[in-house]
Amino acid sequence: MKGLVYHGAEDIRYDDTELPDPEDARGAIVKVSACGICGSDLHIYQGHGFTETTGFCVGHEAVGEVVETGSAVSRFRPGDKVMISAAVGCGNCRTCLAGKVSECELKQGRCFGITEHLAGVQSDYAMVPTADITLCHIPDGVSDDQALLLTDNMPTAWYGLRRADIRPGATVAVVGCGPIGLMAVQGAFVLGAAKVYAIDLVPERRKAAEQFGAIGLSAEEAPAIIAEQTSGKMCDSVVEAVGADPAIKLSIMVASVAGTVSCIGVNQTRNFDFPMGLAFNKSLTFRTGLCSVPETWPELIPLVQSGKLTPERVISHRMPLSEGAEAYRRFNAREDGVMKVVLTP
Ligand SMILES: NC(=O)c1ccc[n+]([C@@H]2O[C@H](COP(=O)([O-])OP(=O)(O)OC[C@H]3O[C@@H](n4cnc5c(N)ncnc54)[C@H](O)[C@@H]3O)[C@@H](O)[C@H]2O)c1
Ligand SMILES: [Zn+2]
Ligand SMILES: [Zn+2]
Repeated sequence: MKGLVYHGAEDIRYDDTELPDPEDARGAIVKVSACGICGSDLHIYQGHGFTETTGFCVGHEAVGEVVETGSAVSRFRPGDKVMISAAVGCGNCRTCLAGKVSECELKQGRCFGITEHLAGVQSDYAMVPTADITLCHIPDGVSDDQALLLTDNMPTAWYGLRRADIRPGATVAVVGCGPIGLMAVQGAFVLGAAKVYAIDLVPERRKAAEQFGAIGLSAEEAPAIIAEQTSGKMCDSVVEAVGADPAIKLSIMVASVAGTVSCIGVNQTRNFDFPMGLAFNKSLTFRTGLCSVPETWPELIPLVQSGKLTPERVISHRMPLSEGAEAYRRFNAREDGVMKVVLTP
């Protein structure tokens, strides 16, 4: 089979790969029909990966059809159309059974295609551990595009929103208008936000956020304009969807007294200079973490089915998997208005 393999910074190739054997009888093999490139894949592409190792298949967003199931899999059979949670846990502990796989009590929370320990899904086939928890049948009324965005991006936005303490009537800021930030803008309104500021460095991305009803601002102008428009009160809830140090600092800056910052961007700074005095003076609540995708499905699936959430609107480009290297290059360069790329094996 073929897949996209990481060979080092800015070097992802469409290579021959081997399908790993299922880890145990709880695994399943899925024939991938579509897969997405996430902002997290860009961290790897840019050489700020999560392992020193190369030669592993990347990607953690995919939908497809089950072709094989282990003897202990009870909820799925060959032929089932499924979406695959990007995050995987041990599948046995109390938190995993509640869908909170990233908070696995046995510390077995992990993600496809981030390190050599679990092969990525930007490939013809995917080996899925603990299939009964990691997979979900694509529900009626949910398109394949929507299902693909329910494997990682929309759940991550929702996880960030749910941990941002958004109350009806709230003023919210979303820092970063990539696919996850855009979905956070839409989700914030669903949760009752009255006003959403969307902050990004790239004008087209701010424009995209405005199409979801937000007020687009550059990072530079945001603190002063938000202060002016809120009479100095700033934002009750802030969702950070970038991961870079300046974006996290900006998020803390635009939060109100007794506000909440929910940081879902992946930051790998080991000695991040957290503005403790500012947070202290604001009585700030700061949360961060990795989304447990299956935990979000019971809320998100009905919201997608009812049309309240339309995550598929972020898809901008479709390319064959065989052109994956070029897709990464364009997404990384933000070339050609690329927002979200869907690859087809
Ligand atoms: N916590 C989780 O479980 C989880 C899951 C998936 C992805 N992520 C992370 O979420 C983040 C967003 O993902 P995405 O796919 O939307 O990524 P993306 O790269 O497409 O979007 C990031 C956006 O941030 C903007 N940006 C960069 N620096 C900025 C700054 N200083 N201020 C404001 N905006 C800035 C960029 O212009 C871009 O539009 C990434 O860090 C990704 O790794 C986290
Ligand atoms: Zn991701
Ligand atoms: Zn567990």
